[in-house]
Amino acid sequence: MREIKPGVFLIDVQDPERRVFDSLFPTDRGTTYNSYLVKGEKVALIDTADPSKKDEFARELSKVDRIDYIISNHSEQDHSGLIPFVLEKFPNAKVIATKKGREFLTDLLGLKDENFIEASELDLGGKTLRFIEFPWAHWPETMVTYLVEDGILFSCDVFGSHYAFSDIWYDDEAYEYAKEYYAEIMMPFRTIIANDLKKLDELDIKMICPSHGPLHKDPEKIISMYKDWTSNEAKRETTVLYVSMHNSTKIAVEKLSGDLVGKVNVVDISKGISMLKYLVDADTLVIATPTALGDAHPLMLFASSIISAYRPKIKRVAFVVLYEWGTRADKTLEGIFKNYEIVDTIRIRGKPSDSDFESIKKLAENLNKR
Ligand code: FEO
Repeated sequence: MREIKPGVFLIDVQDPERRVFDSLFPTDRGTTYNSYLVKGEKVALIDTADPSKKDEFARELSKVDRIDYIISNHSEQDHSGLIPFVLEKFPNAKVIATKKGREFLTDLLGLKDENFIEASELDLGGKTLRFIEFPWAHWPETMVTYLVEDGILFSCDVFGSHYAFSDIWYDDEAYEYAKEYYAEIMMPFRTIIANDLKKLDELDIKMICPSHGPLHKDPEKIISMYKDWTSNEAKRETTVLYVSMHNSTKIAVEKLSGDLVGKVNVVDISKGISMLKYLVDADTLVIATPTALGDAHPLMLFASSIISAYRPKIKRVAFVVLYEWGTRADKTLEGIFKNYEIVDTIRIRGKPSDSDFESIKKLAENLNKR
């Protein structure tokens, strides 16, 4: 437990060994589950930790002699899962959540009506907590909590990162992880989150304390990043995703990326599916795939369905499909991305030939026109 302001404590349960989140996304820097204690005359605990880290959380909680309120900014179990444990230790503590959060905590954790009180603001005696609904970040019930006297925003998942830390403040590397976290957790809801962010303009925020990763002592920096990421303005940037089984697709991708101008991200998705961060800013997506089982490579089908669900701000797509005796990959991909402008689909039989290189060059010329 670390005191970050007089009467405000960070309980950072570190999980540096965690290697996947949501059974989907790699977390090569692990993660943390941050909760916070705010002590006035009464004491509030803001969020808890993942149940897999109950022992570490319990060790920290053993140093606390009273909790009057438990603030649940978000019902997902990596933050709410130990609320029942806290209630066992402090049975008179009352839980505060949004109306929908209350429903979710009842369904997911078996909390009862008598566990809750309703409040939009809470005076702890010298410390005032204000609760601000912040829906769809990334569940429908989410809120953030603002500590008025200290200008601290407790934002739970928002502005977070999967980044185990020793220094509690963001550094340049952590911002990269914040972008990846945004892409994988928040991007599908970006238009709603863009509206939520406007609520923060009225606050005098001096510090942001998320529930994953380090803390922000420069709140404006991460807030302006989120405003940029959630806007509809895409950058002149192309992301090329590919899989290659026997190098032919890779040869085609190397030729294409060499002919493209501006920022180009080339991502081999067989190395893992950390591709969404390359779609936060890009205006153009190119998918290059060999044919397997008559269709796009299964990994590319998987990646394409994720991208389609995440609705990044890309404006245009193009496809490079390799095959030998037949393929329906072109039709499949065009169907998945039917809501985007499809610039072109190139079909390449076998290893790319000089005439294929000409087609790739023409595709690059088209993509370079913006
Ligand atoms: Fe970190 Fe949505 O839970």
